Amino acid sequence: RKHVLSVSKFSRNDLHHLFTVAQEMRLGVQREGSLDILKGRVLCTMFFEPSTRTSASFDAAMKRLGGSTVVVNESHSSVKKGESLADTIRTLGCYGDAIVLRHPEESSADTAAKFSSVPIINAGNGSKEHPTQAFLDLFTIREELGTVNGLTITFVGDLRYGRTVHSLCELLKHYDVSIQLVSPTSLSLPSKILEQLKSRGQLAGEYEDLSPEVVAKTDVLYCTRVQKERFEDLELYEKTKDTLVVDNAVMRNAKGNMVVMHPLPRNQEVKEEVDYDPRAAYFRQVSHNVPGQRAIYVCVGRICADL
Ligand code: CP
Repeated sequence: RKHVLSVSKFSRNDLHHLFTVAQEMRLGVQREGSLDILKGRVLCTMFFEPSTRTSASFDAAMKRLGGSTVVVNESHSSVKKGESLADTIRTLGCYGDAIVLRHPEESSADTAAKFSSVPIINAGNGSKEHPTQAFLDLFTIREELGTVNGLTITFVGDLRYGRTVHSLCELLKHYDVSIQLVSPTSLSLPSKILEQLKSRGQLAGEYEDLSPEVVAKTDVLYCTRVQKERFEDLELYEKTKDTLVVDNAVMRNAKGNMVVMHPLPRNQEVKEEVDYDPRAAYFRQVSHNVPGQRAIYVCVGRICADL
């Protein structure tokens, strides 16, 4: 049984296959309105943490491909009566052909895979990974700038808890990129991922400020929200939440074709005034969610041969 638990299992060929399928899906849906390739199939989704984009795009993608969804609301589920994740997953596997799961525990995706009779798609496991977001982030970079190779990508904000950053850093091992890291020291990238970037020769620098020099070198400015929900010390959250902000003054130091990305939701780290700058790509990034999720179904389906 194949699952989508971590980006680490995906080769560069897998990624390019995924992107080709996403483009085919987008063209197909544009031409036909919807496709029926998953007619009769059922997707179960269960989110133990809030979500707008990931939950809605998986739902929309399944429906646009002719399938249907069972959306289980965690707060009204038997989890509230003490049911374990293992039993929840065993149960959902009886009703759906695949399960999309978001959960605050880092071990949740592996636990789900262990007890599931159907493919698990990890939609975020604590601060560890967010594979489907990372696929669409790479897809967005290719759509915006034509290629990933040769770019300088600057990650800004909460690099410690930002799971989308962790997954994207792992996927970038397949490309020739330079990576700049900008965060308060208390929110710096986990040492294991940092060491991997160093050993690949991809780390171009670590900074605490978004200085004009750092911005001027950047092709992709990847911003993240400070993840309040992961902090044990709320005083630390208050101290760090507004330290790194992208506004029009920052944008004046940037290249004409730099793109600003953000997995969203945002708080104050990207000011609304930046939305009117054509280099702000974060809402275009959101729009790639649905073709991206469709491609994931199709690829998971091809891998599993029975979805
Ligand atoms: N990017 C992302 O995962 O957004 P949601 O939390 O709204 O799903």
